[in-house]
Amino acid sequence: MLHSAPSSSFHHTTTLHPSPSPSLLSASSPSSSRHAWLPLRHFSFQTPPLRTHNHFALTSPKALKVNCSTSEPLKIMISGAPASGKGTQCELIVQKFGLVHISTGDLLRAEVAAGTEIGNKAKEFMNSGRLVPDEIVTAMVAARLSREDAKQRGWLLDGYPRTSSQAESLEKMQIRPDLYIVLDVPDEILIDRCVGRRLDPVTGKIYHLKFFPPESEEIKARLVTRPDDTEEKVKSRLEIYKQNAEAASSSYSNITKKIDGSRSKEEVFKEVESSLSQLQQSKGKILKSGGTEIQRTLEKSILDTKKGSGSSSQDKWRGIPTRLNNIPHSREIRQYFYDDVIKATQRAVDDGKTRLKVDINIPELNPEMDVYRIGTLMELVRGLALSFADDGKRVKVCVQGSMGEGALAGMPLQLAGSRQILEFMDWGDYGAKGTFINIGSIGAAEVEEQDDLYILVAPQNAVGNCIIDDLRAMTNAAEHRPVILINARLKDLPGSSGIMQTMGRDQRLKYAASFESCYFFRLLYYAGTQYPIMGAIRMSYPYRYELYKRVDDPSGKEKYVILSTFLERPTTDEINDAFEGKPRNETRKGSGICVALFCRGFLSGIF
Ligand code: AP5
Repeated sequence: MLHSAPSSSFHHTTTLHPSPSPSLLSASSPSSSRHAWLPLRHFSFQTPPLRTHNHFALTSPKALKVNCSTSEPLKIMISGAPASGKGTQCELIVQKFGLVHISTGDLLRAEVAAGTEIGNKAKEFMNSGRLVPDEIVTAMVAARLSREDAKQRGWLLDGYPRTSSQAESLEKMQIRPDLYIVLDVPDEILIDRCVGRRLDPVTGKIYHLKFFPPESEEIKARLVTRPDDTEEKVKSRLEIYKQNAEAASSSYSNITKKIDGSRSKEEVFKEVESSLSQLQQSKGKILKSGGTEIQRTLEKSILDTKKGSGSSSQDKWRGIPTRLNNIPHSREIRQYFYDDVIKATQRAVDDGKTRLKVDINIPELNPEMDVYRIGTLMELVRGLALSFADDGKRVKVCVQGSMGEGALAGMPLQLAGSRQILEFMDWGDYGAKGTFINIGSIGAAEVEEQDDLYILVAPQNAVGNCIIDDLRAMTNAAEHRPVILINARLKDLPGSSGIMQTMGRDQRLKYAASFESCYFFRLLYYAGTQYPIMGAIRMSYPYRYELYKRVDDPSGKEKYVILSTFLERPTTDEINDAFEGKPRNETRKGSGICVALFCRGFLSGIF
């Protein structure tokens, strides 16, 4: 059996044969090739063929845009589903950063092409889309990482680790990356990419019949298809990837940068490049200062990504806070969520959105439960209002007044006294209240010419009374000015004689759905329970819905690990599927706030 013996000096003894000779790989040659499985005239196991496109024309450190010798070399892992674009991005990374690209897929294909004992064993697994046994792959990776070029130039590990046991092997060998990149691409795109992929056996370049067609008929004629790129095998590879992805990546959650890989390869690379450049700069500084800047840079870069596209406008996001079931929440947790809501809402308003809603359901703000803390809600509203007032906008904060007549007159219990609280709150030392901030109620009469923006505090139907007519009148009067609903509850409530459930229901729902979510946060629980927390959904405009799983790491600390992202708010079924690692279909068209409610599997019927 193959094995590798770790050593502290990072040299490994291994029984893996044949072993490529370090001397045959110059700094200018590629460490691997995407077409290495092909029995080519240029091919030998010791000397993988040179790729001839631009980046391999780099022959000296001077030619590299980044001179790695002045800073500690980068150690990067790149992961993602089959055809998520790992190989494509690796080509670009090598071109720009000169790292040694180590792709387990390429190494294995090279063994297969060379007809080695390992290759013969691996072939059967690879052709059927299954994972090659860990011990084979681990020995190969360890041997390759221990070579001098990887130590000198830094490395880019592609497609490894793919299982928890592979990740553990690396940990045991004390091999850890600086950054763990995950390319996130929806399933249907992946299948398209795989089936259309073609490789050039002469240059090693990756083409796609639709997205990156070959430059000439001559190249087109020689292109080949990978044996594992049939639709059926891709689906099976994808399934295997999903089963293992979380376990394989969990050791790296604090250095993970998730990147939306569904965009053009140039856009994806822009984000990759920016992270790597920042990281490299920090490493250079670290050598001089011995400081911790790399960690800060890394965190910033990860935060950018977690928000979706690397925008620096989200750079304060620090992952989901823990201990959310403990209430009251600490000041830090509350502040954390206020900041998150404010940033998302400001981005939406800056983008010209005028009908917005914020749904934040941390336990202290969950209107469905008894712990609806009016103080927390008011603090959030104050923070949001002041943030717009700071920009010179005149904000009207509105709480609905009493509705209905006679015996049915009243307001929802949760809002009782809230207008008074708003009036008495500390609105800062600069006289904002009465100038840039005004307090009002809900209705067309509240809309005044000088107002720039309206924040409506938890508008909701009360038993027997519907707020929607007042709301509609107010939004009509507000015209193009932004109206932001905070934790609105516009669903129907039982009314006397069942009137509210039927009359005008369609219009009510349509109106409610006309508000676009700019912030959404909700904890997920197992069916029928409110403990422990199973995970969370977060959406912060303009980014996708993010689905997180709460996990307890071996030290007993809890953390939230991202499972998936969605263009629209995921249904209960989609959440269950993501938790079970099943593939998903992103073609669903959502209907705004009205999402079908099914309680399937272990997840509570949360919607
Ligand atoms: P491997 O070769 O690593 O396959 P994979 O992980 O399935 O990834 P792919 O190479 O298919 O895709 P990619 O993400 O590199 O995408 P690409 O850039 O080519 O592994 C193969 C097999 O080896 C495994 O199934 C397993 O058997 C074995 N193996 C490997 N590692 C192992 C391990 N650690 N343990 C056990 N077994 C292991 O892009 C795909 C296509 O999309 C191309 O046509 C490209 O042109 C196009 N494309 C790329 N980016 C874009 C974009 N942004 N827009 C449009 N098109 C794009």
